Amino acid sequence: MVTPVVNAEKLNNFSKVCEILERFDRQPSKIIPILQAVQEEYRYLPEEIMTFVATSLGISPARVFGVATFYSHFSLEPKGKNIIKVCDGTACHVKGSSGLIDVIRRELKLTEKEPTTEDLLFTLETVSCLGACGLAPAVVINEKVFGQVSKKQMKDLIDEYRTKED
Ligand code: FES
Repeated sequence: MVTPVVNAEKLNNFSKVCEILERFDRQPSKIIPILQAVQEEYRYLPEEIMTFVATSLGISPARVFGVATFYSHFSLEPKGKNIIKVCDGTACHVKGSSGLIDVIRRELKLTEKEPTTEDLLFTLETVSCLGACGLAPAVVINEKVFGQVSKKQMKDLIDEYRTKED
């Protein structure tokens, strides 16, 4: 059997980043929107893709890593398909957001240091005030906002998203 030099998945990975680079005319000044598009595509910034971006733009990998680590919305760690954001601002905290965090961690076997499930289905994030204090405790899953979430509802939501197609 002939071992492929680069596996098909990797090749596919690089073809996506090539499309992104083309879309931004390989302009080094567009590094931030390029990294945003890469993160949208891969859900985080894989190291080998950042090195590839640096080489393609003719800039140093250190500069790309510098930009990626400067902005908090960029993630260097893989994230799950479903991002659960639990608001832990004052109003939500008072209404029991830490209980919801406990439920999520228990159900998904997550810890503060390991916020993403091994199957990359879920990532738990805590955020400060979402600006929806009337809905406390508030939770956002992907782009959907859920208000006055009880522990039971939190568990049901996890079950729902666990089996959700796409
Ligand atoms: S404190 Fe949670 S929405 Fe404001």
